[in-house]
Amino acid sequence: MIKVSGLTKDYGARRAIHNLSFDAQQGEIVGFLGPNGAGKTTTMRILTGYMPPSDGEAIVAGYDVVEESLEVRKRVGYLPETVPLYQDMVVFDYLKFMGDLRHIPNVDSRVNEVLDMVGLLNRADGYIGNLSKGMKQRVGLAQALLHRPEVLILDEPTIGLDPGQVVEVRQLIRDIGRERTVLLSTHLLYEAQNLCDRVLIINKGKIVAEDTTENLQARLIGAERVIVRVRGEADELADTIKQVKGVRKVETQDDGAVEFEFASGKDLRPEVAKQVIKDGYDLLELRPLGMSLEDIFLELTGNEAKKK
Ligand SMILES: Nc1ncnc2c1ncn2[C@@H]1O[C@H](COP(=O)(O)OP(=O)(O)O)[C@@H](O)[C@H]1O
Ligand SMILES: [Mg+2]
Repeated sequence: MIKVSGLTKDYGARRAIHNLSFDAQQGEIVGFLGPNGAGKTTTMRILTGYMPPSDGEAIVAGYDVVEESLEVRKRVGYLPETVPLYQDMVVFDYLKFMGDLRHIPNVDSRVNEVLDMVGLLNRADGYIGNLSKGMKQRVGLAQALLHRPEVLILDEPTIGLDPGQVVEVRQLIRDIGRERTVLLSTHLLYEAQNLCDRVLIINKGKIVAEDTTENLQARLIGAERVIVRVRGEADELADTIKQVKGVRKVETQDDGAVEFEFASGKDLRPEVAKQVIKDGYDLLELRPLGMSLEDIFLELTGNEAKKK
């Protein structure tokens, strides 16, 4: 369980996150979706007790991350953005070392268990430095799982992996997520949709949208809204537009303009234009409206693309 309210973090004069509030329940995989610099890592560091917030509160696995950070750390598994792995250590020894730090009983058998979970049993005796990036990521996950944490916080768990490894790591996270609380960050919309029960979209330190993946998907597929304006009287314009197959949510505005929606990917503007003209109107304007969630996300990722 994670419960965050009013979380704010300033780095000097720079506000990295601003008044974040959200929660995550057991058995739920919650996605933290946003471009570089949005504040994902900052939030995760606070939730794992590695850094205090400037303001606000976070309860993780029943404990306050500031007041009881040791209790939090016992119950949280954390996969940082870049996993600090010792390249010249043998996989098994590294995990045993981490397990000893956490006073895990029967550490050898537990290490074998997690190695089995992440599919690395056959690499247990190899050096970390000789592993592929995907395998290293799995060592990181194994390390995060060692102490059977209630809550897992995974910072961009699939970044830098090749497509095959991405599929494997995602499946692993799905399996892990069944009986735990998982918060994972990603800058990939499809990853959030593919992996998460619920998605929080974060941009410039603020949550700009929050929804279940299903609703998000429905909104993404559903939300292309267009405004139509014609010259002069337009009393029946809405009826004209309703004749076009596929349009929905047709609404007349106070000034006579009409708005409608269609499923994105099926642009109905040409059909609507034809019908409007056929019914004798002088078409003045046919313009996409506002910001759908897809637009918001395109802007988010667009910003990121520009930075790179
Ligand atoms: N240690 C730090 N000192 C100062 N500014 C930081 C530090 N870490 C992150 N920031 C800034 O805080 C903002 C959020 O960064 P971060 O949490 O890393 O975002 P994300 O993980 O979403 O890419 C960015 O503007 C970043 O430059
Ligand atoms: Mg980050």
